[in-house]
Amino acid sequence: MDVNGSAAIISGGASGLGEATARELAGAGATVVIADLNEERGKALADELGGVFVKTDVSDDEQVQAAVDAAVATGKPLRVLVNSAGIGWAERTVNRNGEPHNPATYRKVIEVNLIGTFNLMRIGAAAISKTEPVDEDGQRGVVINTASVAALEGQTGQLAYSASKGGIVGMTVPAARDLAAIGVRVNTICPGIIDTPIYGFSANADDFKAKLVAPVVFPKRMGRAGEFAHLVRSLVENDYMNAEVVRFDGGIRFQPK
Ligand SMILES: NC(=O)c1ccc[n+]([C@@H]2O[C@H](COP(=O)([O-])OP(=O)(O)OC[C@H]3O[C@@H](n4cnc5c(N)ncnc54)[C@H](O)[C@@H]3O)[C@@H](O)[C@H]2O)c1
Repeated sequence: MDVNGSAAIISGGASGLGEATARELAGAGATVVIADLNEERGKALADELGGVFVKTDVSDDEQVQAAVDAAVATGKPLRVLVNSAGIGWAERTVNRNGEPHNPATYRKVIEVNLIGTFNLMRIGAAAISKTEPVDEDGQRGVVINTASVAALEGQTGQLAYSASKGGIVGMTVPAARDLAAIGVRVNTICPGIIDTPIYGFSANADDFKAKLVAPVVFPKRMGRAGEFAHLVRSLVENDYMNAEVVRFDGGIRFQPK
């Protein structure tokens, strides 16, 4: 599906993978709607790309509805939803002092990463269903979700994060089946270690990243956000890609730590 002339919502579009995706899709002719908590960066990027910024907490139904309404209000048919908003969290099931995982932090990660993805997928797809199909297959749009290889092989302390991302992987096939009725495809990307602000910028962050890269097979480096955006665009443009979970990871298989 060609995105030229369409509207595309990118949650988490103010930074990292979402920002690169917003740039890629805007470059391909889409009007981008950046739905993110970060007003300063999101607005600056939307202005640069000729798009729209909507301050959005993806875990809040009404705020996601407002972002979708803003996409519809652009006057361009809404065709693309990219879920890239997400937060990391490290906490063990039982910590070294013998204390159980805090249920509030677990719930928070599920709310943002999993419910947030569910929210944009369901509310955005409802708006897509009201557009005209673009081709003889009856296609109306595409959803791209961002999980993680941690959904498949979570490391020590990744209980909450892996559960949230595993939920996204689990939604992929049933969502694709549900949304087939309205001509919407659904694919999920599982990134490995991609260089974005999520890892911070301190000297410690550099050490941490070097450690993370060690098990990457090839090329022996972190992935680039632009490479992720290229994959998003490929999945959107290739009409036969549906209900798929794609690893994007340089061949890495996470070790326990
Ligand atoms: N970078 C990696 O190595 C990597 C690997 C696997 C998965 N991921 C996933 O990719 C996605 C993007 O990560 P990134 O590396 O670009 O991180 P990032 O921190 O650079 O960007 C995340 C963006 O999400 C926004 N955000 C956070 N909570 C939000 C909320 N409740 N509502 C709306 N926006 C919110 C932030 O403001 C930020 O702009 C995340 O879901 C992350 O879990 C990243």
